[in-house]
Amino acid sequence: MCGIVGYIGPDNAAPILLNGLSKLEYRGYDSAGIAIYNNGKIEIVREVGKLANLYQTTDGGSAMPGAPGIGHTRWATHGRPSERNAHPHSTERFSLVHNGIIENTQYLKKKYLSKVSFDSETDTEIIVRMLQTFCDGGEEPFTAIAHIISEVEGSYALAIMDREHPEVIYAVKNKSPLLVGRGDGFNMIGSDAMAMIKHTNTFYELMDREFAVLTCDSVEIYTRYGKHVKREPFTADLDLTDTEKGTYPHYMLKEIEEQPVVIRRIIEEYTNENGDLTINDKILKDLKECDKVYMIACGTSYHAALVGCKMLESLAGKSASAYISSEFEYDMPILSQKPLFVFISQSGETADSRAVMVNVKEKGYKTLTITNVKGSTLSREAEHTLLLYAGPEISVASTKAYTAQIAVLAVLASCVAGKKCPLDLKYELSVAANVIEGLCSERDSYKELAREYVGDSTRCFYIGRGLDYFVCLEGALKMKEISYVQTEGFAAGELKHGTIALIEKDTPVIAIVSQENTDLHTRSNIEEVVSRGAKVLTISRSGLSMKKDSIIVGDVAEILTPLVTVVPTQYLAYYVALLHDRDIDKPRNLAKSVTVG
Ligand code: G6P
Repeated sequence: MCGIVGYIGPDNAAPILLNGLSKLEYRGYDSAGIAIYNNGKIEIVREVGKLANLYQTTDGGSAMPGAPGIGHTRWATHGRPSERNAHPHSTERFSLVHNGIIENTQYLKKKYLSKVSFDSETDTEIIVRMLQTFCDGGEEPFTAIAHIISEVEGSYALAIMDREHPEVIYAVKNKSPLLVGRGDGFNMIGSDAMAMIKHTNTFYELMDREFAVLTCDSVEIYTRYGKHVKREPFTADLDLTDTEKGTYPHYMLKEIEEQPVVIRRIIEEYTNENGDLTINDKILKDLKECDKVYMIACGTSYHAALVGCKMLESLAGKSASAYISSEFEYDMPILSQKPLFVFISQSGETADSRAVMVNVKEKGYKTLTITNVKGSTLSREAEHTLLLYAGPEISVASTKAYTAQIAVLAVLASCVAGKKCPLDLKYELSVAANVIEGLCSERDSYKELAREYVGDSTRCFYIGRGLDYFVCLEGALKMKEISYVQTEGFAAGELKHGTIALIEKDTPVIAIVSQENTDLHTRSNIEEVVSRGAKVLTISRSGLSMKKDSIIVGDVAEILTPLVTVVPTQYLAYYVALLHDRDIDKPRNLAKSVTVG
């Protein structure tokens, strides 16, 4: 959701910015723009739609020589997607790009900008106008930026250029993600490491309400009071090839097929020198001592949390419930005496989850974040972190992060259970990885099934019970987000209480049957829809399968079935989206990292 790149150094900035923005495309956007300093002027180009448009207008950047520069992909929040609302926003002296939402715009306009007219409908323009106003009033940019930080409420990551001082650019951060990349003779700003990894793997983290002053040779970080901060850089162990598609047509397909490797990596990362699965002692102590685990998450991560709660309860006898962050934030249930909050988030940046984090931390509760992104906001702010080790997930539709979340939650549950764990989880996880590998080798058959069962239908249903129901929710989310086929996941037993009214001839229904205590019940629900004309594609587990089932997944421990039954649902979503000619990795209206609440 909104991507920022900045560059100051001896090379032409535009091609570097365009490349950086292309690495941020996965976050979701609807317009893009760059500002480049050249010969005493700041030149700006902004385009609605895909980054390809900006590439074309600027001839891959070569039509805009000069440096420094800043660039942006915008995901519209205030003001519709248009050239006028696209970033950078500028005054005669400053150009600025922004990620986040300014909350006190009315107050700021009234207090500082009552005589100013605006070019756009964005909240961002207020900041650049304030900067100009403060400097017109005699402040230096350094103090004007500190002044802005003290006045502006909300979330913001900013990159700023000053036409009168092209030897510096500024980075400012509050609540929205932003990193500074350190190079040799150049420096960079980026929403995440991927935007800069081609040029450097050394980064400075900025804390909330800090800002950085970058020249070609230096990076200085300051608090909002202008006090200098000494910060050690860190190195990101990101491989450039992790961020490339390779021979795959889409990141989503690549990421689906990376799942066995990710599960094996998780086993390795969480195995101690004795060969046992392990998690950090302090995390384990907090988990054992709490009387209930509250899992907080959004979207796909919430679906993983539902499975995680079942794992904690059935493997470790620990009470656990999953909550949607944006619901929990405004409607908190009565809490247990000693809760532990577990935040599950691929990106570690989701604003809704962060709002809950801030709230429960204020109340003094313990927090653990399970995330794919080391150093992300939710990870930094929680007491503990467990990493997913899934590698960068670029496709907006989450696949390998979901299975990684479930695998890490399984490790966590088995560690809490200790010797009482009824499974040899390490072994069972490796079996699951092998089964997924087998499923991936069948991809052509899913393509056929997608065409045969869903084809050009405009709606589709997933049904299942227990853990299968949770996978149905995830399968349905995947299908709708990338193919735009309206798809709902239902608890199979609920069908007869309303939804069955929607079943008619040829309605696609995908049933999941992998749970021993409910398989026959789900089978009878299948019969109910078949008798009303539905086309039913059944995904079943080998021990419970029937001849007519379309997809049979190999046997894995029952509690781990979501790891494997989800894989065909990911492929089905992918191939239906392909049939409908959708923009699979960047579906409309969606963002990978939702940094606004
Ligand atoms: C967005 C993405 C979803 C993701 C959700 C939660 O809506 O499009 O794929 O599941 O955010 O993201 P998180 O990074 O917190 O897991």
